[in-house]
Amino acid sequence: MKKVRKAVFPVAGLGTRFLPATKAIPKEMLTIVDRPVIQYVVDEAREAGIEHFIFVTGRNKGVIEDHFDVQFELYDPLAQRGKHDQLARLQRLQPAPGQTSFTRQQVPLGLGHAVWCARDLVGDEPFALLLPDMIMQSERSCMAGMVDLYERTGSNIVAVQECDAAEAHKYGIVGKGDDVHSGFRITGMVEKPRPGTAPSNLFINGRYILQPEIFEVLESHERGAGDEIQLTDAMLKLQTRQAFYGYHYKGRTFDCGSPEGFIEANVAFALRRPDIAETMSGVISRLLEDMQPQAPS
Ligand code: UTP
Repeated sequence: MKKVRKAVFPVAGLGTRFLPATKAIPKEMLTIVDRPVIQYVVDEAREAGIEHFIFVTGRNKGVIEDHFDVQFELYDPLAQRGKHDQLARLQRLQPAPGQTSFTRQQVPLGLGHAVWCARDLVGDEPFALLLPDMIMQSERSCMAGMVDLYERTGSNIVAVQECDAAEAHKYGIVGKGDDVHSGFRITGMVEKPRPGTAPSNLFINGRYILQPEIFEVLESHERGAGDEIQLTDAMLKLQTRQAFYGYHYKGRTFDCGSPEGFIEANVAFALRRPDIAETMSGVISRLLEDMQPQAPS
């Protein structure tokens, strides 16, 4: 069985829900506490043993490449000023030379098309796919658990979580079959099912391990919902020849593609940071108190 060594990060979306913030800054560079969103996702992949990070980018996304590069004009002054802790932290997060690759999607034709753009960089091996919009919070990372399941099944893995049945029409939803190892067989997948038609309340949370045959399916460039080339459609086709397993992730997921989810992630991560948690919980309590209707005097 081939090891999962590479991860793909599709970062070519337009981020229209964050305009005007994303006019000049990619949404993946917006910060959760003091790290850009994309850093959390790359760290999750690294924790899962990923050795090569492939970014599918677009126009105005060059700063993502700079973020993962060495910056002598910053590192040297930090060293000279004795800020060794800060420097060590930056260096810990730094991919090694040759560990990153960047390609451009050129036209944002949908997630399936963005994944297809990574075909030559991935080659003939299984790969992890992490949507940077989704940020996870748990003891052990979602992708690390998925790699464990992959090592037992050797197939395609899709991470899922529960949502309210009434919300299922907003997501990609899987059908649940028999439990296998620490996961379950996926019996079907549907992108944004019509209300009342979802096969379960298990939504696809933006983490996948896929076999390279997905690229053959994506090659047809078939358009789906929203006239975009949809990854879910391609996975459904691949499912006729290969098994798909669900990994039931039990941690928290924040949808940082929407302002509400992004703000929630900021609060949740701030409350987990030992250096600022107490201050922030005081700030949040005071803000909530200020919102209470005043009792008439
Ligand atoms: P979204 O549709 O949520 O991202 O795609 P978006 O298009 O940037 O967001 P809005 O709706 O305009 O605010 C999910 C993921 O797929 C990537 C996005 O960058 C995001 O990580 N994506 C989507 C691409 O890389 N290319 C595409 O053509 C579409």
